[in-house]
Amino acid sequence: MNNRAPSTLRTKKCVLRPFTMDDASSMLKNWTTDARVTTYLRWFPHKTIEDTNTILTQWVDAYQKPFTYRWAIADINTNEAIGSIDVIRVDQPNEHVEMGYCLGYKYWNKGIMTSALEAVIAFLFNDVHVHRITACHDDRNPASGRVMERVGMRKEGVFLESERSKEGDWINMVHYAILDHEYKNNKK
Ligand SMILES: CC(C)(COP(=O)(O)OP(=O)(O)OC[C@H]1O[C@@H](n2cnc3c(N)ncnc32)[C@H](O)[C@@H]1OP(=O)(O)O)[C@@H](O)C(=O)NCCC(=O)NCCS
Repeated sequence: MNNRAPSTLRTKKCVLRPFTMDDASSMLKNWTTDARVTTYLRWFPHKTIEDTNTILTQWVDAYQKPFTYRWAIADINTNEAIGSIDVIRVDQPNEHVEMGYCLGYKYWNKGIMTSALEAVIAFLFNDVHVHRITACHDDRNPASGRVMERVGMRKEGVFLESERSKEGDWINMVHYAILDHEYKNNKK
């Protein structure tokens, strides 16, 4: 597994680029304060720009650390940040990474996250040389599972009551994965 710096990735639907401190207001406007976006996520909507600035500062600082793969999903025309996609866990010895993502509500169902995840998977297999990419979603959030399926990930199973929601309820998590050789075979 190589420690490749995350480059800017362009898709037909969006641009994936590093976050900068200038993105706070777009994040606030497009997703961090929106309860529709956070329904199945582990964090509550932000109440103030300070909340968003705090997390953004951590994200921008983290670019100095190895194996940090986090992109702003930017509007293809305006470069405005409309969402995020990132590696949320790196297991270096096993060359395994886990993905997370979220997108502003008004951009849903336009194929944007499918194109973003496709581009990140290609980067992680071709440039970082990971062996296994995984992602999971709350079973009440089928749109996220559909994105995983559309990019060629394989459903591995449902872990019953394996996590708690942010409200404290037990939730079932649906797990997906794709291996490097599966990815290469799918491309043939
Ligand atoms: C889940 C999310 C990332 C999807 O992003 P998106 O850009 O809208 O996804 P896409 O448009 O690429 O694909 C969505 C697919 O789900 C389908 N879909 C949408 N709502 C659905 C539902 N309620 N049930 C089943 N499928 C659904 C769409 O029809 C589409 O599939 P299709 O192209 O085969 O028709 C976005 O809704 C989001 O950010 N949600 C909030 C944060 C979140 O849940 N993140 C994931 C945590 S695991």
